[in-house]
Amino acid sequence: MAFKDMRAFLAHLEEAGQLRRVNVPFNVERGRNELQALMRHLAETNGPALILDNLEGYNTPGVPLVFNPYGTRERTAMILGTRDPVEAKLRHFKVLQDPSTWIKPKMVDAAKAPCKDVVIPRDKLSVDKHIPHVFFGREGASYITGGVGVSKDPETGIRNVGAYRVTSFWNSEHPQGGSYSEAQQKKQLSMFAFWNPPMSHVGLHLAKAQKMGRPLEIAIACQVDPALHLASATGIPYGMDEYDYAGGLRGAPVELVKCETVDLEVPATAEYVIEGVFRPDVPTDIIGWHSNSVGYYDKHQIFPILDVTCITHRKDPLWYGTIEMMPPFDHNYMALMPIEGELLADLQRKIPEVKDAVVTPNMTYIVQLSVDGESKPHPEFGKYVLHAVWGAAGRWPRTAKMLVVVGPDVDPYDISAVEWAIQTRVQPVSDIIMNRAGQAFVLDPSAPKGPQGFPTSSEQMGIDATIKVPERFSDYAEVSQADRAQVEQVARKLAGRL
Ligand SMILES: Cc1cc2nc3c(=O)[nH]c(=O)nc-3n(C[C@H](O)[C@H](O)[C@H](O)COP(=O)(O)O)c2cc1C
Repeated sequence: MAFKDMRAFLAHLEEAGQLRRVNVPFNVERGRNELQALMRHLAETNGPALILDNLEGYNTPGVPLVFNPYGTRERTAMILGTRDPVEAKLRHFKVLQDPSTWIKPKMVDAAKAPCKDVVIPRDKLSVDKHIPHVFFGREGASYITGGVGVSKDPETGIRNVGAYRVTSFWNSEHPQGGSYSEAQQKKQLSMFAFWNPPMSHVGLHLAKAQKMGRPLEIAIACQVDPALHLASATGIPYGMDEYDYAGGLRGAPVELVKCETVDLEVPATAEYVIEGVFRPDVPTDIIGWHSNSVGYYDKHQIFPILDVTCITHRKDPLWYGTIEMMPPFDHNYMALMPIEGELLADLQRKIPEVKDAVVTPNMTYIVQLSVDGESKPHPEFGKYVLHAVWGAAGRWPRTAKMLVVVGPDVDPYDISAVEWAIQTRVQPVSDIIMNRAGQAFVLDPSAPKGPQGFPTSSEQMGIDATIKVPERFSDYAEVSQADRAQVEQVARKLAGRL
C-alpha cells in the first residue's frame, strides 16, 4: 500500500475512525502552551490522531496542526497498510533484509510537484512567517520533527535521508540569558547533525565537509508519506539510499523533484521543503531547555547553524507538531519500529532461533526465542544472544541498557509476562550480565558525562530469562496457565451473561 503523501495517510486514519478534527482552542505559545498536557492525556487514554485548527498564540493560524498521528503501535503499523504491529514489523524487516525488493525513486517535473506551489527565495523568506512554530512544555525553542533531512556525501555524492530534528531561534529563550540576532531568528535554523556517538549519517557528511573546508547542502522535507519517514528513521548501511528502501516499503517509487537552491532531491508531495547550507566553518549555537526522548530536560544542547536558502510549500499546507518527553509519546512508536526491524533483520541472519525483538517506549530491549530449555542449541544460549544484541548492526542496539532474552511462551509485548519470566527463570548473579563498558544512550542522565560533555559509555544489564535446562536443571516446573483457545471458548460461553 502506497500513500501518496501525509494527507492520504491522514484520510486513511479518518476512515478507520482513528483521527478527529478538533477546533477546541489550545495555546501553543512559548511558556503558555497546553500541548504537552494534551500529549499526556492522549497517551493515557489511547487517544486518536487529531487535526487542530484553532490554535492560540500560533504564528500561522491558517495552517492546521497534525497531532498524535503515530501515538499507538496500531496507527504506526497502519503506515505499512496493516493494523497489526507484528505484521508491520515483519514487513519492515523483510524489505530491509532484501535490497533486491527496494525500488529506485522517480524524478518528476517541478510543475507537477505540489511542494512547489509556493516558492519563497532567501531574500523574501522569514522563518517567523513562513514556517509554523509550536512550543511544548518548558522548551526554549520550537522544533521541526516531521522533517526528513537529505544530504550527500561530499566525497562520493551518495545521498542519505534521515529523520533528524531541527530547531528554530525565532522567539526562543536563550538558556544562558543571551539573545539570538534578528538575522539568526529569521534566516537560520539549527539541526541535530553531529558525528558523535551514537552517530548519524548527516553528522558524518557534516564532519567530512568541514574537514574538506566545503559547505554542506541540506534539504528538509516536512510531512511526507510516513513510510518514507519510517525509512529515514531506519539505520540502513552507510552509502545505501533510504529513498530506495522507502520505495520497497511502499511497493512503488518515491516521486522526487529537484530543489531550487541546492543540488538535492525531495519528495514532490511534501507539505513544506526547507533548503539550506552549513557553511564550511559551521558556527554552532546553544539552545535550551530541550525536552528529550528519555523524559528529561537538557538544560542546553549545542547545534550547528544552518543558513536557510529557500522555503517552498503546498498551497494549503499542513504542519505536524510533537514533543519528546517522558514516554510514551506520539513519535516514539515511529522511532521504535525501525529499531525493532533493524535488530530483527540482523539477529535472524545470524541466529535463526530469534523469533521476535521488541523495544519498549522506555528503550528496554526484549528478544524472544523460538527455543527454550532443552531445545536451546547449547547451554547458556540466552547469554550468547545477549552479546549478539550488543554487537548488532545499526545505531541503537549497542545502547541497550536493559535487555531481556525470553523463550517462546513469553509475550515480549506484555511487560507483566516478561517480569514473570525474570522472577521465575533468573538467578541474578548467574543469569545477569553486567556490562561495565557499554555504549551510552547519549541522553541518559544517569550515565557519566565524557570529555565532550555528554555520556558516551554506560553500564548495561543483560538478563537471560530463558529456562536453564540443561545447564542448571534436568527438567523444569510446569507452567500453570490456561490455554488461550480454552479462554476464548469460555469467553464465548459467557458472552452477554456477565
Ligand atoms: C521523529 C524522529 C526524530 C528523530 N530525531 C533525531 C535527531 O534529532 N537526531 C538524531 O541523530 N536521530 C534522530 N532520530 C533517529 C534517526 O532518524 C535514526 O537513527 C536514523 O537511522 C538516522 O539516519 P541515518 O542512519 O541515515 O543517520 C529521530 C527519529 C525519529 C523517528
